[in-house]
Amino acid sequence: MNKLHLIAAALAGAALSACGRAPAEAPPLAGATMGGAFSLVDQRGVRRTERSFEGQYRLVYFGFTFCPDVCPVDLQVITQGMRALEKSDPATAARVTPIFITVDPARDTPAELAKYAANFHPRLVALTGTEAEIATVAKRYGVAFAKQPAGPDGAYSVDHSRMAVLYDPAGAPIAIIPHDEGPAALAAALQKWMAA
Ligand code: NI
Repeated sequence: MNKLHLIAAALAGAALSACGRAPAEAPPLAGATMGGAFSLVDQRGVRRTERSFEGQYRLVYFGFTFCPDVCPVDLQVITQGMRALEKSDPATAARVTPIFITVDPARDTPAELAKYAANFHPRLVALTGTEAEIATVAKRYGVAFAKQPAGPDGAYSVDHSRMAVLYDPAGAPIAIIPHDEGPAALAAALQKWMAA
C-alpha cells in the first residue's frame, strides 16, 4: 500500500460512481488515449505484442511480484472474478485475457512471473521487459510508477497506480474495472461492458 495506490483507488471509485446507469451509456474510457503498442516477454519467455491479443478483450493490471499487500489482493479479486464469470457466462469469460505487466522488470524475470502467475489463473499472461520497454508501456497505458529507495537489506518497493482497465478486442480502452468490490462486482462489470 502506498500513496499512488490510494490515489488510483480514489480515481477508480470516482469513475465507478458513473457506472450505475442504463446499459446504453458510453464506455467511460471511450476515446481516451490509453493503450497501444508494446513489445514484452511473457512468463514462458515468449515475446508478445499488442497484436498477440487481437480479437481478445484484455483486462490489464500493472504491479510487481514483490508487492507485499496490494497487488496480490487485487490479482486475487481479478482472477476470482474471472472464475465467477467462467461459471456464470463461460463464453464471455473466454473472450477476456487477464494481463499482468510488471513495473519491476529488474526482479520480475519471466521465471519469477511464471511462479507468481501460477498462483492466480491459468490464463493470466504476465509480462516483463527491459526498463525502457516497461517505462514505455506504462506511460502509454496511463500507469505511474516510482521505484522507492532500497532499505538496509537492499529490498525496495515500487509505488504504482492501482487499476484494472478493460480494453476491447482492437485494443481500445473501455473502462476501469473495480478490483476493490470483490469478485462478483468485477465479473458483473466485465459482463456489462462486454455486452455493450
Ligand atoms: Ni502493488
